[in-house]
Amino acid sequence: MSSINVALLGFGTVGRGVYEIIEQEQKRLTEILGCSVNIVAILVDDETIERNVPSHILVTSSAHDVLTQPVDVVIEAIVGVEPAYTYLSQAIEKGCHIITANKEMFAHKGHELKQQAKERQVSVEYEATVAGGVPVINTLRQLVTVNRVVQIEAILNGTTNYILSEITNKQASFAEALQSAQQLGYAEADPTNDLKGYDALYKAIILAELLTGTKVYGNHVFREGIKSVIKADVIHQQLKGSRVKHIATLNFGQGQIDIRVEPKWITSEHPLYHVEGVDNAIVMTGDYVGRLKLEGPGAGQYPTASVMVEDLVKIFSRERKLVNN
Ligand SMILES: NC(=O)c1ccc[n+]([C@@H]2O[C@H](COP(=O)([O-])OP(=O)(O)OC[C@H]3O[C@@H](n4cnc5c(N)ncnc54)[C@H](OP(=O)(O)O)[C@@H]3O)[C@@H](O)[C@H]2O)c1
Repeated sequence: MSSINVALLGFGTVGRGVYEIIEQEQKRLTEILGCSVNIVAILVDDETIERNVPSHILVTSSAHDVLTQPVDVVIEAIVGVEPAYTYLSQAIEKGCHIITANKEMFAHKGHELKQQAKERQVSVEYEATVAGGVPVINTLRQLVTVNRVVQIEAILNGTTNYILSEITNKQASFAEALQSAQQLGYAEADPTNDLKGYDALYKAIILAELLTGTKVYGNHVFREGIKSVIKADVIHQQLKGSRVKHIATLNFGQGQIDIRVEPKWITSEHPLYHVEGVDNAIVMTGDYVGRLKLEGPGAGQYPTASVMVEDLVKIFSRERKLVNN
């Protein structure tokens, strides 16, 4: 392979981060992979916006034009289930590997994409869909080669953890905490998906599908957001040593899985008690290894983009090893 050709779908916070890391780390990537990594095309919604990228890179709102380029891997960072799913499915059909950060799409269609990729013998990588820069997907993949994961407890949404931290530590009202999250860029203008627990649920479903290899349907799932949390209760419970956290719990029983995403009162012995602000954390219990905890930035441009570039390195290092073997 003389070069790895990349198409980027989306050039917002995450897409631009991927572009910048690939450009800045070109020398290192070439050393590791034995060839250069070239971004050949970028798909955007509004092609009239100036993107400040070199003129040899195609920037277009036509998915057809992007997917008919000679591309080895498609890196997707757009928003929502469609048209992202259709584009990735088309890319797989053309024999491209795919990498995505789009948790909403992957919670709904990840199982189908994985099946399709298996048939076409290409890779699907999705580390960025769960907990941003925290390498939970690859850790779990490694773990399950020997361990059975019996439980996961996790804080998977930085916005809600920030709001609950503000209420707990500064006695802010819910409205004040939300406003502060929006001012700092942690919460979207429309924060519904975060506050109602959908965002955390999408990530929990992605983890559950990774561990069970099956599609997870709504009947195994309970979801409650953080709107029911009352400041007076937070202050009262804190005096008794408890804090409220929005926690995703996945219990893996005998061929059964139970997923709950809800506010929970926990005490200082709990491993998620000290997770503050926009951080995410995942506590995994394996039958041999016991309890492991990962914690770090659950979102953000460079943390998220860096795990996507790591996914790319993983795919093509694997290919290179196969060739060398
Ligand atoms: N931001 C984070 O920290 C983070 C962390 C983990 C995962 N994610 C996930 O990563 C994805 C991207 O997030 P983001 O924060 O980078 O979003 P963003 O800043 O809103 O960027 C979205 C990009 O997608 C393009 N786009 C949107 N709809 C499109 C369509 N129908 N066709 C073609 N292009 C389209 C937009 O084009 P224009 O530029 O023309 O508007 C924009 O470049 C989301 O699925 C998100 O859940 C984000």
